[in-house]
Amino acid sequence: MTERDDSAFYGNLDGTLEEAWRMLDSGASDRRAAFHTPALASLSLDGAPSARTVVLRRVSRAERWLQAHTDRRSEKAREVLVDPHVSLHFYDPSAKVQLRIAGLASLHTEDAVADDAWAQSRSFSRECYRIEPGPGTPLADPREAVIPQVENPEAGREHFAVLRVRAQTLEWLYLAARGHRRARFDWRYERMDARWLTP
Ligand SMILES: Cc1cc2nc3c(=O)[nH]c(=O)nc-3n(C[C@H](O)[C@H](O)[C@H](O)COP(=O)(O)O)c2cc1C
Repeated sequence: MTERDDSAFYGNLDGTLEEAWRMLDSGASDRRAAFHTPALASLSLDGAPSARTVVLRRVSRAERWLQAHTDRRSEKAREVLVDPHVSLHFYDPSAKVQLRIAGLASLHTEDAVADDAWAQSRSFSRECYRIEPGPGTPLADPREAVIPQVENPEAGREHFAVLRVRAQTLEWLYLAARGHRRARFDWRYERMDARWLTP
């Protein structure tokens, strides 16, 4: 296997941030990309961390947000309404890159963000939001959960939500034989702070 050309970002903080957003962009658009399915961690109602896989749907580098879709009846939707602090974890084994993004989540159900995402979703994806009873409901028998077959393409819209994470920090880790590189970008203060960290 040929080594990937990392000259644009190895040892270069600006190039590293550029590469991180490039990978996130392609994670949103390429279903085969490892970054397409990050883990989203939130705080459960008893204070313990809770992580699960989500599909990365959209990214805005300019506004530093990342979006996933979810059912507003889900546990994660409830959790981020109580405490919006979340973290997204990405790992691409072929690129040998891990990203950890910490930020604040917002849940969009009735606004233009949700309308826009719903309008772009396919009928197959919309089906999941029609399931009854709601996600996470204990069942005596798994067949109790059903997706009603209906003609109305808007069915399920009332359960659909966009979970948007505004990044506060982004941590990069690149595993390389000639020396690992770890960097942290922090937008919590007036000016972005970018620095290397010991890997
Ligand atoms: C490959 C994969 C992709 C998934 N994508 C999503 C997603 O985009 N949104 C979502 O709500 N759940 C998604 N799930 C299911 C979640 O991981 C989780 O099991 C479910 O949402 C319940 O989580 P909660 O009870 O913490 O809310 C996905 C699971 C897998 C395995």
